[in-house]
Amino acid sequence: MVTLEICIGSSCYVKGSNQVVKIVNDLLAENNWEDKVEVKGSFCMQSCQDKLGLGIRINGERIEGINLQNAKDIISEKIASLL
Ligand code: FES
Repeated sequence: MVTLEICIGSSCYVKGSNQVVKIVNDLLAENNWEDKVEVKGSFCMQSCQDKLGLGIRINGERIEGINLQNAKDIISEKIASLL
């Protein structure tokens, strides 16, 4: 089981984290990953302060450089590498 956390802090909300939730849900459905990936919300994980882009953590590792344009590709690649 892969754990994917999406930051619901205010700084990420402004950058569109609610849209990332939709992107992730669509991605899981497209790949039949619903049973393999657990999605959780998270409070601020410091990605905003560290200028890492939107706050996303997969299996405890913060993923760098996520924005709304690349979220699908980067998250998909990371999950695929862990399954
Ligand atoms: S508000 Fe999302 S990482 Fe800080």
